[in-house]
Amino acid sequence: MTNSVRRTPLIAGNWKMNLDHLQAIAFVQKLAWGLADAKHDASSVEVAVFPPFTDLRSVQTLISADKLPIAFGAQDVSEHESGAYTGEISGAFLAGLDCRYVIIGHSERRTLHAESDEQVAAKVKAALKHNLAPIICVGETAEDLEKHGQSAVPVAQLKAAIEGISSTVDIVVAYEPVWAIGSGQAATPEQAEQVAAALRAVLVETLGEDVAAKTRILYGGSVKASNIAGFMREPNVDGALVGGASLDLTEFSSIVRYQKHVGL
Ligand code: PGA
Repeated sequence: MTNSVRRTPLIAGNWKMNLDHLQAIAFVQKLAWGLADAKHDASSVEVAVFPPFTDLRSVQTLISADKLPIAFGAQDVSEHESGAYTGEISGAFLAGLDCRYVIIGHSERRTLHAESDEQVAAKVKAALKHNLAPIICVGETAEDLEKHGQSAVPVAQLKAAIEGISSTVDIVVAYEPVWAIGSGQAATPEQAEQVAAALRAVLVETLGEDVAAKTRILYGGSVKASNIAGFMREPNVDGALVGGASLDLTEFSSIVRYQKHVGL
């Protein structure tokens, strides 16, 4: 049942702390030209970019003025609405810039900024309050993998992140094994599918069959043009969250066009 619904694949580029607003404009413009040349059909694969906060206004202006078939979002959001939180960015501000998505709980936030499961859950609620679709990142470290196997930590993180949210919401889940991020060593498609299936079971249990059936689950961690096809063949993997390779225009464009080079 959950796999009989067609989910539009999402290829999302997480730029992390790269590309300033001028570089962002040039990148998005060239990406759009490439998509137009390739007669990209946005209803068959959705493309989204996640620039640093300081680029969002420029990216919004370009995308809306030229009606480019590229979605965009932020890499993080505050769990607070407004007030004395120096350096934080409210979901209201992101919604005001037409962001469609926001990445929440990326492993770099969890590790480098000590973000807890509770904070991730609060951020998910803050995003939903402003109709931003959270891309909820979950994944195990190499140590977790050894101690608890592959699915236990991602499953526990997802349960914590969506606790208490309503069953009608628009969310995306990204399974990103921490050991695969930026390491050049991606999970195998089979490993990604196994965890994605376990995560979909959590969605069924928590939000019901219908929401689980339409929710996209992405794989992330050393995705490249040469390995994307294998992930996209898996029934529970509905796209990719791409880091390093999203900064290389040729590579990212090729990932977006995975259907062409594998005949999917
Ligand atoms: P990577 O990063 O593609 O460079 O491994 C993925 C991510 O951090 O989202």
